[in-house]
Amino acid sequence: MTFEKKILCIGAGYVGGPTMAMIAAKCPHCRVTVVDINPERIAAWNSDDLPIYEPGLDELVRATRNRNLFFSTEIERGIRENDIIFVSVNTPTKSFGLGAGMAADLQHWEKTARQILEFSETSKIVIEKSTLPVKTALAMERILNCRQNGVCFDVLSNPEFLAEGTAIRDLERPDRILIGSRNTERGLKARQTLADIYASWVPPERIITSGIWSSELSKLVSNAFLAQRISSINAISALCEKAEADVVEVSRAVGMDSRIGPKFLNASIGFGGSCFKKDILNLVYLCRYYGLEEVAHYWENVVKINDYQQERFVRNMMGAMFNTLAGKGICLWGFAFKANTGDTRESPAIFIARRLLEEQAEVVVSDPKALQNARSDLADMEGRVRFVEDPVSAAEGCHAIALLTEWDLYRGLDFQKIFQSMGQPAFIFDGRNILDHQRCFDIGFNVYPVGKPPLRHF
Ligand code: NAD
Ligand code: UGA
Repeated sequence: MTFEKKILCIGAGYVGGPTMAMIAAKCPHCRVTVVDINPERIAAWNSDDLPIYEPGLDELVRATRNRNLFFSTEIERGIRENDIIFVSVNTPTKSFGLGAGMAADLQHWEKTARQILEFSETSKIVIEKSTLPVKTALAMERILNCRQNGVCFDVLSNPEFLAEGTAIRDLERPDRILIGSRNTERGLKARQTLADIYASWVPPERIITSGIWSSELSKLVSNAFLAQRISSINAISALCEKAEADVVEVSRAVGMDSRIGPKFLNASIGFGGSCFKKDILNLVYLCRYYGLEEVAHYWENVVKINDYQQERFVRNMMGAMFNTLAGKGICLWGFAFKANTGDTRESPAIFIARRLLEEQAEVVVSDPKALQNARSDLADMEGRVRFVEDPVSAAEGCHAIALLTEWDLYRGLDFQKIFQSMGQPAFIFDGRNILDHQRCFDIGFNVYPVGKPPLRHF
């Protein structure tokens, strides 16, 4: 079968896999190949047990795989055979040298650029899908355009805005598709080629264009704004606890102002996930690089409040449980950084579990989809943590339950039975405010929500 467009994506992760599956589903005239250096990941994409859990993903992959969607480890061949190349490799925070702990680590990114240069025999459009510091496209262009053999590369920025757990819905009905390009004849032509792909299913008014630097920066700024809302409401949750106000009531009242809006105002144990912290730190680093210390300081505080909120949650547990957790069983309900994903990257649960272990608590971890990742996150604690999938059995014999991920299943459990199986007095720390607190209190639990007065029996 001949295809009108041949698309490659380098990086078969949480973004590369789902994004390309959606393009393949919506564009049967395109052949889409996803490559990765990790052979186990590719084998999993080619199996019935996909490497990531995402609602709706299995069906999408099943419908397109080996029709016009292919997963492979043949990077060199992929580069040679395709004309449009998305790069969706990981861009974590740098852990060494200059900018360690702040700047983006661009080594995977640069390696990819060099591979594209080495194996390309024809001209290509190269698309930044990864989240990158502003002006990365310039570096990409400089690497790619260093040969004068008639092979040309047009670099576009097309950041991804999907959120895990809702990735398929976000990809199918995106708020916007952003394409940044050079304002040259070639740049605009490349931009149109990419816009045409999205036009197969995205309404034209949702496909927006800009200069490359604005596009790169918009991605960092979007994540910073979203995270800032969470830190804002979490900061207020601390005040609510002191002032006997209820953060859920405050957030509802504030969010009904149409200029503010209701989303991303849920107080919690803090935001997790692979991107918010890394992208804000990246933004902070960029501001410092450009000498904008006040701006850097402003955004850095979003991360500081997030750290504060996680530590505050542990301290509240300690305070409520008579200032000692040593030898007490504490069951963590949820380990994923949010519901409907198995991803635990930067999950507040990792920090909380480690702090509880430091206090010599006996920790039991429960999660419907993230236990495998939780085991590897706490691998160095082997023997000190138990992993139990069923939340009811996990809580048995414990003194406290800390609800860390807002999985729906936790709402409908038999709390009477759970209470009777636990050590007394029994505590629930609802880090997501999703349980029926009054009902749990009436059963006998001491209930500590976030940003609301606790319900105590003593
Ligand atoms: P990931 O770690 O899940 O996937 C990246 C993949 O790239 C890995 O499988 C890795 O093996 C592969 N890789 C690395 N170097 C390679 C190379 N030289 N050749 C081939 N493959 C290589 O990361 P992710 O969560 O998919 O994120 C990718 C990018 O997208 C990041 O920049 C991230 O900030 C951004 N992003 C992520 C999300 C999200 O929800 N996870 C959303 C929007 C944007
Ligand atoms: C986030 C953004 O929402 C995406 O637009 C972006 O593409 C992505 O980062 C990225 O660049 O990686 P994601 O991290 O997958 O997506 O999930 P979110 O829904 O944003 O949740 C992030 C964290 O904030 C979670 O830990 C969640 O529990 C927490 N959160 C979210 C709150 O604590 N309160 C809220 O009101 C909302």
